[in-house]
Amino acid sequence: MSPMKPKFYVTTPIYYVNDVPHIGHAYTTVACDVLARWKRLDGFDVFFLTGTDEHGQKVEKAASAAGLDPLAFTDRVSTAFQDMARAMGVSNDDFIRTTELRHKIATTELWRRLQDAGEIYLGGYEGWYAVRDEAFYDEAELTIRPDGTRVAPSGAPVEWVVEPSYFFRLSAWQDRLLEFYDSHPDFIAPVSRRNEVLSFVRGGLKDLSVSRTSFRWGIPVPGDPAHVMYVWLDALNNYVTATGWPDPAAPRAGFWPADLHMVGKDILRFHAVYWPAFLMAAGLAPPKRVFAHGWWTIEGEKMSKSLGNVIAPADLVAAYGLDPVRFFLLREVPFGSDGDFSRRALISRMNVELANDLGNLSQRSLSLVARNCAGVLPPRGAPTDEDAAILAAAGALPALLRGYIDRQAFHEALEEVWKVVRAGNGYIDRQAPWALKKTDSERMASVLRVLADMLRSVATVLQPFMPGSMTKMLDQLGVPEDARDLAALATPLSDGTVLPPPRGVFPRHTDDVT
Ligand code: MSP
Repeated sequence: MSPMKPKFYVTTPIYYVNDVPHIGHAYTTVACDVLARWKRLDGFDVFFLTGTDEHGQKVEKAASAAGLDPLAFTDRVSTAFQDMARAMGVSNDDFIRTTELRHKIATTELWRRLQDAGEIYLGGYEGWYAVRDEAFYDEAELTIRPDGTRVAPSGAPVEWVVEPSYFFRLSAWQDRLLEFYDSHPDFIAPVSRRNEVLSFVRGGLKDLSVSRTSFRWGIPVPGDPAHVMYVWLDALNNYVTATGWPDPAAPRAGFWPADLHMVGKDILRFHAVYWPAFLMAAGLAPPKRVFAHGWWTIEGEKMSKSLGNVIAPADLVAAYGLDPVRFFLLREVPFGSDGDFSRRALISRMNVELANDLGNLSQRSLSLVARNCAGVLPPRGAPTDEDAAILAAAGALPALLRGYIDRQAFHEALEEVWKVVRAGNGYIDRQAPWALKKTDSERMASVLRVLADMLRSVATVLQPFMPGSMTKMLDQLGVPEDARDLAALATPLSDGTVLPPPRGVFPRHTDDVT
């Protein structure tokens, strides 16, 4: 809001509406949500965008299979993605649909600029196309199956396409892209993915077909309405459209270039090669960073409709609660690697790390405050070495997490918090404040205050991951609502603050696991 705050713009991919939302979509969106919430907590003016990718042959086919015209179909499925964002507690600032007028205006303008710059020419495409990936492939990239059919590296079937097409002069961008990667070493992450992109671009780039004539569901090419724009050109531009481009006076104009496009590994090439080339060719700045995360399998299997193992995010939340699911998604697997989703692993994280480690620590500490300190925050005496150590570890969390989260190392950020939580459990066991009640009530009060201060730091930095539960914990710690950002941690809570009666924040999950 304030013009003084630094800006931060983060995006999810926009989701194809041929499918209903599943846990893979929820994953990308929740990771961005954590980042957006963290940046807000850290004093940034954040713009967090998600949305739906509604044009192209794949969506047109899905609509006709559903017996609906494409717009009615996309209206319906787009809503499902908006519902998914709500069900996952996502704090997006805008939701873009590529069928909106603002997007048609911005994308038509992008095309015009590319054309005016001589970056687009009319030719003919003859080659392979995979509708499922909405991607063109070379013969050399395909695998021939025993039955003679060809499939793309993703496993998607391909078809032979012959049609007039506009081309983008991608081949001319090879050196400039390589220079760009070289001068922006953090543009693509993780490093293993960056290396893949570099070797792909070093291998040579061919001009890219950017229009289709064999179907109608897309944005018409200006001046040649027999063509609709290639869906990836259309889709990628959503990130620019949402800033109000090309209107320089749009309220969000200052958010471009985006700070981060979060994507799955399968769509990195579009974001890290085609997109910066389109933007530079149109005279626009490329985004600052693209992070490619890994894929989830389900109980060891690839997620697929035919296996019937597709998990709807809302079902998971209904069974285990929202915050445990959000926590699990970012805690279980190093961000950037592939991971396996299993109910057993989720329940174990819930019971061990949430209910036992953090939930019990807070419940034990706060019930002692309620019982032995008349329910008010006690003062802290002169710190012992142990007090100083645990307070220093908790106090270091904001700066430590800032570093990890800026590199999208969410699992490491959580591990740092849990080191402090585990140290807190060791501290309470050794100090035994329940026993101090009779021998040294002043020291007991001091120990409980150290615990409350430590828990406040922990709950503050965990808010982006588990907003609902951490709000409850901060309420119970008596932290005023306007003192919950990272900067507020510098100001101690007032002695004597009246605390509400403590209530457990993380229930244990007791269902049998099959
Ligand atoms: N519409 C394009 C993106 C255009 S962005 C300008 C698209 N959509 S998608 O719906 O197919 O996929 C969206 C995201 O979901 C991708 O980042 C993809 O990696 C992610 N996932 C889909 N299945 C997944 C898993 N099983 N696991 C993790 N993420 C997965 O691609």
